[in-house]
Amino acid sequence: MSQRRLFVTTALPYANGNFHIGHIMEYIQADIWVRFQRMQGHAVNFVGADDAHGAPIMIAAEKAGKTPQQFVADIAAGRKPYLDGFHISFDNWHSTDGPENHELAQQIYLDLKKAGLIATKTIEQFFDAEKSMFLPDRFIKGECPNCHSKDQYGDNCEVCGAVYAPTDLINPYSALSGAKPVLKSSEHFFFTLSDPRCVEFLEKWTQDGKLQPEVANKVKEWFSVRENADGTKSEGLGDWDISRDAPYFGIEIPDAPGKYFYVWLDAPVGYLASLKNLLEKRGDNYDAYMATPGLEQYHFIGKDIVTFHTLFWPAMLHFSGRKTPDNVFVHGFLTVNNGEKMSKSRGTGLDPLKYLSLGMNPEWLRYYLAAKLNARNEDIDFNADDFMARVNSDLVGKYINIASRAAGFISKRFAGQLGEVSADGAALLEALRAARDVIAPLYESREFAKALRETMLLTDRVNAYVDQNKPWELAKQAGKDARLQDVCTVCIEAFRLLTIYLKPVLPALAAQVEGFLKVEALNFSAAGAMLGKGHVIGDYKHLMQRVDVKQLEALFEPPAQAEAAPAAPADLPGGEAIAPAITIDDFAKVDLRIAKIVSCEAVEGSTKLLRLTLDAGEGRMRNVFSGIASAYKPEDLVGKLTVLVANLAPRKMKFGISEGMVLAASHADEKAQPGIYVLEPLPGATPGMRIH
Ligand code: MSP
Ligand code: ZN
Repeated sequence: MSQRRLFVTTALPYANGNFHIGHIMEYIQADIWVRFQRMQGHAVNFVGADDAHGAPIMIAAEKAGKTPQQFVADIAAGRKPYLDGFHISFDNWHSTDGPENHELAQQIYLDLKKAGLIATKTIEQFFDAEKSMFLPDRFIKGECPNCHSKDQYGDNCEVCGAVYAPTDLINPYSALSGAKPVLKSSEHFFFTLSDPRCVEFLEKWTQDGKLQPEVANKVKEWFSVRENADGTKSEGLGDWDISRDAPYFGIEIPDAPGKYFYVWLDAPVGYLASLKNLLEKRGDNYDAYMATPGLEQYHFIGKDIVTFHTLFWPAMLHFSGRKTPDNVFVHGFLTVNNGEKMSKSRGTGLDPLKYLSLGMNPEWLRYYLAAKLNARNEDIDFNADDFMARVNSDLVGKYINIASRAAGFISKRFAGQLGEVSADGAALLEALRAARDVIAPLYESREFAKALRETMLLTDRVNAYVDQNKPWELAKQAGKDARLQDVCTVCIEAFRLLTIYLKPVLPALAAQVEGFLKVEALNFSAAGAMLGKGHVIGDYKHLMQRVDVKQLEALFEPPAQAEAAPAAPADLPGGEAIAPAITIDDFAKVDLRIAKIVSCEAVEGSTKLLRLTLDAGEGRMRNVFSGIASAYKPEDLVGKLTVLVANLAPRKMKFGISEGMVLAASHADEKAQPGIYVLEPLPGATPGMRIH
């Protein structure tokens, strides 16, 4: 087979939050496919990046008191533990705010302009005069014109489901400032997808059989003039608004001062930018690589971003004279324990870092998700009971068990040497080898669940062979040494073949197995040969634990503050029962620092709060609101040292952002026993010291 060259991406996650389990599922799906391709000897460049731009990120950064650049850099700094933790083998991770992306997005735009596909139009939009910015739909709220529910978003009502334009809202207000938005007109740039050239190209590109059938059918609807559910008419492909006005965190449009590309224009260009960044780090040439004959380009994405990837993106590439994707692989959404689809903002469900920190094996999750994934755009559910059953009974019980049943005899009785295989074992192994031609195409077509099902059927056959031959009994019988070595050799060789078939899913385990079997890195062609008689294997160390139900309980235990507090017996000192025990590790998560109260003032409009300016030795000041106005006058506190919870997530309050919390003592029933006492260290402590 000739070597293929593949350029593979996953969707670029918004840089406004950590990964949730839905992201990790997408990366695992793509990673399994990429690892399979590499095992076939193909050359893959697998890249990702943060999607840094857009109004929501700009606004979130402002709330956090950071520049957008700093904000996205902080998010980016947290990516590695997830990617390494789940063995995601990206060759590069970049950012859409990188210089390569600025340059490429502007070039693509200029090429589209040259092709006559950029138009301008003046449109009216809601503007927040207080913030001096145009408001994205998400940041306009008001009363639903249909059911009159209050505080609904600018594009649809969460109560009655009505879809409308922000201008239809009754009493609209800006979610940023509360101001009443005014209509203001501005010139916008459009990519004219309604141009007959675009329509003709896209009808062909989306309907030539490459897309998944359910995706192609959905896309087809967007081309036709049709009646929508709400009675409005859709006109087929419309022009795409690709500009936003300053202030905006994005890429400037060439020769258009104050105009920026809409985030979705430069986001997919980020695929190319990350690739370019990778190639240049390696000293390779990006243009030459993109011109490689036969280069294949694939994007793994979720079902919510199909329009961008099957219409806008291929059209941008084609009409700017660039290579279009060979395919876009669409997956459904992951839900957890039959829950609703994970909310992007709430990120409920299964916390990937918590999973890892509980010592749960990342390859359990890879195996479980692979056992559910297919090539269709279908939702899948993570179910805790099902997870435990599949990992324990299939992965450990059927597969790992084969090695653990045979390896001990080989090392103890035969000095680690494999022996002669007789006809029955050879026939079994032949069947296992032949299965490669069934399993490899299933990986290729992303039918991972089927690939694993085939593999598990093979483990059943091997286990049946073990049960028939009972090596543990052979071991006790005189004169049965040769048969014992024969049977165990078959098991070891079978285990090697099964490991090849599972390696795209279980890369770290496969590496351990390679060490134990003393073989080169396994790939699919290795299934053609066999470990010979006399090959010496290493000592078997247990390869994988079973899932412990306690781990799952801990994983899904709600965060501590959500737990019902035990009733407070009135005779306890302080009136509050002692909280449930925590470990020293739990305590270590709280970063307590000595901080100096540099200044302190009353908060206008609040009788409870004081605004503290704190120096915690960081070379910057922190702004913290504290509900202690009833107990202290600002001047009582200035110059004092206190204790700051320094790693508490910043919280947006009505009066501004609070960057931490100072510690104070009070009785549980503040009304009955009033008094608030701010903590102060004994003399000698200095700002920035950590409290252990
Ligand atoms: N920034 C855009 C993508 C730009 S691509 C040039 C975006 N980001 S996202 O963070 O919201 O989503 C990133 C990917 O995660 C998307 O493919 C999305 O479909 C996927 N998922 C988000 N939630 C998901 C699940 N619950 N389950 C599976 N995938 C999910 O969209
Ligand atoms: Zn409504």
